[in-house]
Amino acid sequence: MNLKQATTDHRKISIAPMMDWTDRHCRYFMRLLSPSCMLYTEMVTAAAIDRGDVAKLLRYDESEHPIALQLGGNDPAMMTQAAQRAEEFGYDEININIGCPSDRVISGQFGACLMRTPDIVAACYRSMRDAVDVPVTIKNRIGIDDHDSYEFLENFVETLSAAGCSKFVVHARIAILGGMSPKDNRSVPPLNYERVFRLKREHPELEIVLNGGVQDIEQIDELLQQIDGVMIGRQAYHHPYFLVEIEHHFRPEWPMPDRQTIVERMLPYIEEQLAEGERLSRITRHMLGLFAGQPGARAWRRHLSENDHKDGAGVGVILDALKTMPVAAQAAIARTAG
Ligand SMILES: Cc1cc2nc3c(=O)[nH]c(=O)nc-3n(C[C@H](O)[C@H](O)[C@H](O)COP(=O)(O)O)c2cc1C
Repeated sequence: MNLKQATTDHRKISIAPMMDWTDRHCRYFMRLLSPSCMLYTEMVTAAAIDRGDVAKLLRYDESEHPIALQLGGNDPAMMTQAAQRAEEFGYDEININIGCPSDRVISGQFGACLMRTPDIVAACYRSMRDAVDVPVTIKNRIGIDDHDSYEFLENFVETLSAAGCSKFVVHARIAILGGMSPKDNRSVPPLNYERVFRLKREHPELEIVLNGGVQDIEQIDELLQQIDGVMIGRQAYHHPYFLVEIEHHFRPEWPMPDRQTIVERMLPYIEEQLAEGERLSRITRHMLGLFAGQPGARAWRRHLSENDHKDGAGVGVILDALKTMPVAAQAAIARTAG
């Protein structure tokens, strides 16, 4: 692999932090699908790191690099301590969540509501930046509630930029706080890419990554004409093979694995995790979409979801799921079994 090329690529394409979705098993799977994209963890709160089982919260597989830990919080001392732990664990980037609109997060006064108080975020940012060498970045919305203007976004970004932040991942829609679910907050407020483009145009010195609604490679190519990077969430989760196509697009020399090969490559990892006491469904739930759009996708999904949670379920469930699929999958089954 051309290392310089891969470095550039992973800065351009990243997989969004998604609570309950981008856990370590999901990220291991995604790394097989795309060796060079940047992976983000689910949000972990600084408070959880302060009082929880850090080894469990921050655990990841070495293959997941480059990997960013996303932190939630608003207390400079606690955020700094969490950043230090993240650095000790070897994370490549620490990202601050300024986009989550959930009630739990609002009541904790962090996430998206912090867009209203950029000085608090800047205080956290400065303290974290002074304490660690890894890059600290921000993921924010373009606005919140009735603060829906370019000036509001720019004021937030300029305050953080003055505190030393040079990379912003911008989810290109506002968040509505209170009364709208996180799910609706990812689709109801309209996307406004133009506001993100303008931010990049007027602040070319900043690294601006656009997030929200990215669906296909043509769109990625178009977006990259105007901004520095693209972060993909739901499309990558529901159609994981999209990541293989993206990797291939940026690195045509990369030998593109087919879907069955990806399954085979997951098996040793799954065996290892099961031996540690993990349940099969904790891992396979992330693989349900692997065959999306292909013949047999329904059979694959159904067999896994009906069987992966049963007591003692092992990799046999996955091999059987492949067997329920049409002929195209049979060769792979033979290879796996042999
Ligand atoms: C299930 C789920 C959980 C999410 N959890 C987080 C999170 O922990 N932190 C965060 O910054 N954004 C979170 N998001 C938002 C995504 O990172 C992303 O901003 C959003 O889905 C828009 O991108 P997309 O249209 O490519 O999915 C979550 C999204 C989903 C679907």
